[in-house]
Amino acid sequence: MGTVTFISYDGEKHEADIVEGQSLMQIATNNGIAGIDGDCGGEAACGTCHVILEDQWFDKTGEQSDEEVQMLDMTPERETTSRLSCQIKVCAALDGMAVKLPEFQM
Ligand code: FES
Repeated sequence: MGTVTFISYDGEKHEADIVEGQSLMQIATNNGIAGIDGDCGGEAACGTCHVILEDQWFDKTGEQSDEEVQMLDMTPERETTSRLSCQIKVCAALDGMAVKLPEFQM
């Protein structure tokens, strides 16, 4: 189905298989990606799943809820293309996407 790549703050790359219907956070935690904790289980309530997208992928990852935006407002290292990975439903259209991880999560 395809892959997504997680890039740590120091440039280390980890590729993971896409599992349709899972969130990007679930894929990260199921693959042991360091730096994505997912402490709240995907409720947009902890901010420990922050990722930074490349511009070309940002619009393909869906709308942001008010809860996600509020959580990102409190997130260190927030950038204009920041998302909570628990709020991104992964599908084949995201094959090839790479996301950057911040140095620090909340
Ligand atoms: S897992 Fe808690 S905000 Fe994403």
